Amino acid sequence: MRPYYEDDMVAIYNGDCRDILPHVLPPNSCIVTDPPYGTGWVRGGGPKAGDFDAQMSGADWDKWDSSWLNLCSREKVSCFAIFAPDACIGDLQSLLGRTRLRYYVKSNPRPPLGGNDTPSVEPIVIYPRVRFSRGPAHLVAYNGDCNHHPCEKPLSVMSWIISGCASVNETVVDPFMGGGSTLRAAKNLSRRCIGIELDESYCEVAAKRMAQCVLGLGARDINEAGETAYNSPMLFATHIPEAGTSA
Ligand SMILES: C[S@@+](CC[C@H](N)C(=O)[O-])C[C@H]1O[C@@H](n2cnc3c(N)ncnc32)[C@H](O)[C@@H]1O
Repeated sequence: MRPYYEDDMVAIYNGDCRDILPHVLPPNSCIVTDPPYGTGWVRGGGPKAGDFDAQMSGADWDKWDSSWLNLCSREKVSCFAIFAPDACIGDLQSLLGRTRLRYYVKSNPRPPLGGNDTPSVEPIVIYPRVRFSRGPAHLVAYNGDCNHHPCEKPLSVMSWIISGCASVNETVVDPFMGGGSTLRAAKNLSRRCIGIELDESYCEVAAKRMAQCVLGLGARDINEAGETAYNSPMLFATHIPEAGTSA
């Protein structure tokens, strides 16, 4: 299968992960992903950067569907870290088994819709439970300055998850890559990585991010809005990478 982008650490495929995943999943994979949630909320369109436009309707891909998990051979995948809304944690647990939860706490939560439903906390379901047994249980981060994808996760959050879950000899795989935050964090942390994305325009965004060399600690990951900056604690690493995180 021909990648959309490739370098010595990264491969990006454009298409439906349900078609591509079975062909590209290597042994020793760690799936780190942020699948569509089915919330109908995407960031952007508000009065200032990072605001949410309450009028915006969901993109047509914004539907929760965990069927892709059945395509991840347990012989090849050693770990899963999946962002999920509260309502879907049970679904993941019944598919995966006993899990651990970690939490991304947004310092800029979306506004209330009809007086309810303001998730400033996004759970991350980790399997198996032995992964991410050390390190903080939650990370506070700001996503208002992320401009690669409407549902972009901050690099600090992805670095925290990858450092806690994936060892340096595992390949980080994101089947719902979006603008490539998972891959950028993985590459910064010296992990090989594979991304799959349906929308070609986001493959292009991610490819441009991957082509940048690993820079030093970026301003975006420094504590700008009261969040906890998080830099490569390398909980499972056997060596320390030369640089910190930045897109
Ligand atoms: C929540 S976003 C991921 C955002 C990403 N975490 C980031 O930081 O940019 C989910 C992405 O999955 C993509 N997607 C939806 N269904 C897909 C599928 N079947 N195969 C591959 N990608 C898909 C969407 O186009 C969207 O970009």
